[in-house]
Amino acid sequence: MDDILKRIGELGIVPVIKIEDVEKAVPLAQALYNGGLPCAEITFRTKAAAEAIRRVRETLPGMLVGAGTILNKEQVDQSIEAGAAFIVSPGFNPKVVKYCKEKGILIIPGCSNPSDVEQAIELDLKVVKFFPAEAAGGLKMIKSMAAPYAEMKFMPTGGLTPQNMSDYLSFPNVVACGGSWMAKDELVEAGDFEQITLLTRNAIEIMLGFRL
Ligand code: 3PG
Repeated sequence: MDDILKRIGELGIVPVIKIEDVEKAVPLAQALYNGGLPCAEITFRTKAAAEAIRRVRETLPGMLVGAGTILNKEQVDQSIEAGAAFIVSPGFNPKVVKYCKEKGILIIPGCSNPSDVEQAIELDLKVVKFFPAEAAGGLKMIKSMAAPYAEMKFMPTGGLTPQNMSDYLSFPNVVACGGSWMAKDELVEAGDFEQITLLTRNAIEIMLGFRL
């Protein structure tokens, strides 16, 4: 699990994607990969999610694939069975967190306030998703929470853009940024994978500018 967290930290950006048409899963993952991001969080907001994870894992073994928007144990099982390397949830559901720990899969649950973070600490988590980042107070909120919880690392997601991403990345308690801005629904629906690659490359350039 620690190696996956380390990898997420090295990559610095986790693209959040939603697949309606399973045939688009591999081209979309390939577009992210070509842009320099061999990583995707495939959300369980559609019925195609598990099959999308399976196909991307089979076709692009170098891709780090996680399952997102996981709300219950059944979805954890489906994610593991499909080959997901990590689980992300929008909120802090202790049942889901404990189940992922039992199954030995990395869970990055959503936390938006100190009470959530304390639940995460109670369950020995090192990284949480700060969601919905911009709506819940943005970097200012992360900085305030990092004061009492100095060991906790955050993956802000929700409302991130190429414009605000660098501020988040410059704060040491931010392990990576998550978001859908590289693979927006309309681009995926239109099959505009070239644009997805360009937006991904642009995100990588911004990140490297801050990490050098
Ligand atoms: C998520 O599920 O992580 C968010 O919906 C992604 O947020 P964004 O679409 O604002 O990037």
